[in-house]
This record gives sequence, structure tokens and C-alpha cells, in this order.
Amino acid sequence: MTICNLPTHPVSRHKPTQLVADQDALMRIFIRPESDAARLTLLKYMEQILFGLHEFLTRHVGVTQEISLKELAERFNSTTISKHPEKKLADVIIDLIEDIAPHAVNVASPYFVGHMTSALPFFMVHLKTIVTALNQNVIKLETSKVVSVIEKQVLAKIHRLIYRENEAFYQEHVQNPQTSLGCFIEDGTLANITALWVARNSLLGARDCFEGIEKEGLPAAYRAHGIERLVVLVSRLGHYSLKKAGGVLGIGNRNVIAVEVDAQNRMDLNCLRQKIAELQDSGEKTRILAVVGIAGTTETGSVDPLGQLAAICAEHRIHFHVDAAWGGPTLMSEKYRHLLAGIEQADSVTIDGHKQFYMPMTCGMVYFKDPKKLDAIEYHAGYVNRPGSVDLGRKSLSGSREASSLILDSTLKIMGTQGYALLIEHGIEIARQFAAEIQSRPLFEMITPPELNILTYRLVPPAIRSLGRIRFEQGAAEEAIGINDQLNTITRKVQQLQREAGKSFVSRTTLRVHQYPGQDIVVFRCVIMNPMTTLDVLREILDEQEAIYGQIVNETVDL
Ligand SMILES: Cc1ncc(COP(=O)(O)O)c(C=O)c1O
Repeated sequence: MTICNLPTHPVSRHKPTQLVADQDALMRIFIRPESDAARLTLLKYMEQILFGLHEFLTRHVGVTQEISLKELAERFNSTTISKHPEKKLADVIIDLIEDIAPHAVNVASPYFVGHMTSALPFFMVHLKTIVTALNQNVIKLETSKVVSVIEKQVLAKIHRLIYRENEAFYQEHVQNPQTSLGCFIEDGTLANITALWVARNSLLGARDCFEGIEKEGLPAAYRAHGIERLVVLVSRLGHYSLKKAGGVLGIGNRNVIAVEVDAQNRMDLNCLRQKIAELQDSGEKTRILAVVGIAGTTETGSVDPLGQLAAICAEHRIHFHVDAAWGGPTLMSEKYRHLLAGIEQADSVTIDGHKQFYMPMTCGMVYFKDPKKLDAIEYHAGYVNRPGSVDLGRKSLSGSREASSLILDSTLKIMGTQGYALLIEHGIEIARQFAAEIQSRPLFEMITPPELNILTYRLVPPAIRSLGRIRFEQGAAEEAIGINDQLNTITRKVQQLQREAGKSFVSRTTLRVHQYPGQDIVVFRCVIMNPMTTLDVLREILDEQEAIYGQIVNETVDL
């Protein structure tokens, strides 16, 4: 499929010629186009990339071209690097735009509502291009200068959005080389790991002859602090990156303990209190490293009761981390920021730029209430990151790092809080309307209504709906499980066929929900973040699911 034959500047592939890698060619690559003609050619290619690809993404509403993974794998199975150059830049660009892009996933489609990846404001491509052209490395001032200064300013802006400290606080810290309000990092996973790394090092710091866990390691730290086990408590809807943190930080991922949720899928406070009491009374010398509250769970978009979690953590002197990788930018909306009330009491907060800040892949961030907290993970090296320097790499899990802060800084100026509020409010309000639509259709059952902009539902054929409900309510467990197994099969199959048809994409997950205790329920998971996703689009998606169900029900499921 041709996606970007711009009528004004058609670009054709070069006839194969013997290409050579010589000194002249190298110079051309590094010193930019040497003639006006070459310059024009490059501009033409850039125009194709900047506008042709965009045109494709907005025009082509399907989510992917129909081609099997097997076929793709066969096309891409050569493993040798050719000795001589194979292609000119122009040909590589045409390959990428015409042959590769159509088989990638069109995450910009309004019909792509399955994951936390979506359309970007198109200026992101331009901003990312500038960041690439500048190629600053924010690890140190010597390779970034003003960019490091801007990064500190952006960190302060987002810190202020979360914590709302006063002007004097921000004037003291915005450019203070001795303090850090947070740091940029590649993604939400690493942001969560950073938060727990900081919490671990703060808890198991130096005492007497012990020089701290970072230097001496876990066994010495446990001995010095008289403990045998560290645990993290998070709702059972916590993101699996927290388990990774358990592994990476050496506390063991089985010590990332799941706390039960209530009927709204928020951490159950009674269960939390009970768990804390149990751990403290266990006599096992267990310490609680952190409690993690989630502002927008990955599967259901629910928000834990952050204010109450903060109070419990304060009472027990436990580090309170909020994973707002998804929901953080809700703070931009005056109308809905109350949904995250209590986040300002968190010791640390994760937010992903590449989720609801609509930034290109990837941009994680972690913020700390206490500007000295990041000192717990400070490292120095002789050639860089010297003590007292402004080098941002001193307090970061990453080494070399691109200047994604420059993109966020520019975007905040282009969008303002009002622009972001429009996006956030659209997602939340369309999700609510979609929930009402689902509830009005006899074939569907709402499983988790939206609190932010994520919801889950499933297919329940009318023939078993009333029958099924009575049985669930009367607690005929085995029969209910049998029915749910069949419903799981139907939802799984419809989701798979819809995905394969390639017009729209809704994801699928398996949940434990209060309506069906002890049972695994397979659900459609819908994430609404694309401003082009309207209620009509969502109705079409439901229509398609109904049609697919109509086709398969007699063949695949015996009900
Ligand atoms: C709540 C939450 N936390 C953390 C993450 C991890 O983010 P990333 O994929 O950027 O590592 C996700 C990703 O979906 C998430 O939903």
C-alpha cells in the first residue's frame, strides 16, 4: 500500500547501483548536503516523513494491515550485515514509509482503544526531530548545558502540579544544584524502581559501623537493621513493574504483597490495616518498605483512596509511593483533579509522559516531596557527575539519556493546562457515555465502570443472562463457574477475531471482580485517550463485536 505519494513531490526508488562506503561518502553523511540539489532532495524526504506519514495515520483508520506474523517473520529472517552499503537514504525512507509503516500498528486510529498508546499531537514529530538533531545528553552539563537547566525547570513545574508547594519553595529549589524535585527516566517501570530504590536506601541507611545498603548490600543491611525481610504493599491491581522492582532491589518479588481491593477496585483500607498489623506482629522481623497507591490502575483505571493511604503511611512511618503513571495528568483538569486528592501527600510519584501527556515513546518521570530524597541514590564519577555539580546524571538510574524534557517543556507551552484538560475531560466523559451505551445493550455486561477513562465489559448472551444472574446470586458455585468459563471463551474469541479483522482494537484481560467472587472473568478492556474517539466510533466497535458474536456463536460455543 502506498501511503504517502504526495502529488507535489513524488519520490521514486533508485535503480540498484553498486554503493560503496568510502571516505567521501562518510563526509557527506556527517557534513550534511553539499549542494543545493542535495539539500532540496533531503527536504523533500523530510516533507514526506513529516506530512506523508501523518496523512496516512489520520486517513487510514484501520489498526493494521492483514498479514500474518509468520509471513512477516519469513520476510525478516536474514541475519547477515552486508559488507557494502545496500541502500541510499532515500530508498530506506521509502521502504520505511511504504513497506514497514502499513504493517505497524496504527495506534493513532480512533478505533484503537485497547492500550495506553494512542495518537500524538502531530507537533511531537517535529519536536522529537529537533531533540534528535541537537542530540544532547542530559547525563551531564558538558553535553547539555541549557537543556539541563530547562529540565530542572520542567521538573519543578510538574512537581508544583502534584504538590502545590508555595512560590518560595519553588524559587529555592527550581535551579538549586543541591536538591532535586524529581528526575526524568526512560519509562514508568524505571520510575517505579527508582522510587522504591530511594525508599530502600533511605530505610536501610548508614548506622553505627554500617555504611548503608547501597554500599554494603542486602545481607549486611538486614543484619545491621535487625530485620529479615522487607515488603512492599500494593493493591492486587498493581502494575507488574513493582514486582520487577522487588527482584531488582533484592527484596524478592514475592515480598511485593497484593492487598485486596473493594467493590470499586480500590485498595481495601481494612485489608491494608490488617496486613500491616499482621506483618508488624508476625515476629518475623519484617519491615514495610513502602505502600504503593495507584492513580489509574492499568486494567481498570481505578484510583486508590490516596488521602487515606497517606494517613495510614504517616501513622506507621512508611514510605508512600503513588504510581500515577497513567492518571497523573488528570491533575491538569480543574474539573477532575479531585479524583487524585491526596496525591500531594505522597513521598514519591511516578508519571509517564508517553501516556496522558501524549509524548512520543518514551518518557518516564518520578517526583519526590522532599527535595533531598534523591540523595539516597547519588553516584559520582571522576570524569563526570562530580560532587556538587549540576549534572543531572548524579541522581538517576539511567546513564546517557535524551532530552525528552525539552519536548515536555515545549508541549506545556503549546497546550497549557487548558489544552490538556480538554484531552483528559474528553477521555473521562466519553468513557462514561460509552459505559451507558454498553449498559443499554442486551448483549453486554459492564464489569468495571470507568472512574477515569478505562472500563471493562464482556459479552453475556441474552439466553443465559437472566439464568446466569440468578445462578450467580444464589451461589451455585460450580454452575456459575461453568457458565463463566463459557462466557470467557466467547469474549476471548470475539476479541481475537476483532483484532484479526484489523479495523478496531479493544484489548482483553482477566479480572477477579467482586460480582463473581473467586472466578476469573475475561473482559474487553477499553482505554479512551484519543480525542478522535467519539461515542459513534465506540458504538461501531460494539456493533462489530455483536456481529462477530452472531457469526461465531453456533460454530464455537455450545450454550
Ligand atoms: C499504572 C502503571 N504503572 C506503571 C506502568 C509501567 O509503565 P511503562 O510501560 O512506561 O514502563 C504502567 C504501564 O502501563 C502502568 O499502567
